[in-house]
Amino acid sequence: MNSTYAFIAGTSGEWRIRSIAGYLGESLDPAQRLAVRPYEIGGGEQEPGWRLLGTVSNVRYATRMEVASLRQRQEPLRRPQASRAVLIPIRKSAAWWDLAQDERRAIFEETSQHTRIGLDYLPAIARRLHHSRDLGEPFDFLTWFEFAPEHESAFDDLLARLRATREWDFVEREVDVRLERDGPA
Ligand code: HEM
Repeated sequence: MNSTYAFIAGTSGEWRIRSIAGYLGESLDPAQRLAVRPYEIGGGEQEPGWRLLGTVSNVRYATRMEVASLRQRQEPLRRPQASRAVLIPIRKSAAWWDLAQDERRAIFEETSQHTRIGLDYLPAIARRLHHSRDLGEPFDFLTWFEFAPEHESAFDDLLARLRATREWDFVEREVDVRLERDGPA
């Protein structure tokens, strides 16, 4: 199964781009629409904008209990009411990648409580994490979220809480791409 996705910005694609804002470091170029689709080798893109790749992978930090809590609460992507989405590409610093796995886990969860905070926003927010670092991409992660319009303020609250954590001291580039699609999926 192909679990690598391409995020293609340009003039076509299902998602209308509402805004692109650099939160940390360099932003991404403006574009009108975004397509998200399984990546195909040799599938040449005609779109004039940027293209980012990311692979859905195994968990790195979540414990058995956290995985169980997430499974209990999380909802799938493509819910009919979830007409809003946010793509947040993130790159972490060399200092983060120089840490050992157990040190990263300690910052991610014991100190920053990433999963604990995130669980407060499920099931309203559906998510998918893509890893890009090993693909030689400009970002380490492409984070993707979908929700109904009435949950956008809760999403902003979640973002503020995560960005205030110790984990975010290690984020050196972050772009916030807000999206909307017409009608149910
Ligand atoms: C909606 C609620 C959220 C939940 C339940 C959640 C949960 C998680 C979990 C469990 C992981 C670890 C996966 C693993 O074990 O490898 C993770 C990783 C990650 N999440 Fe979240 N998250 C949420 C929201 C967010 C948001 C809003 C952002 C971005 C602003 C974000 C950015 C990331 C990043 C970049 C990683 C990878 C971290 C790394 O491996 O260094 N998450 N998330």
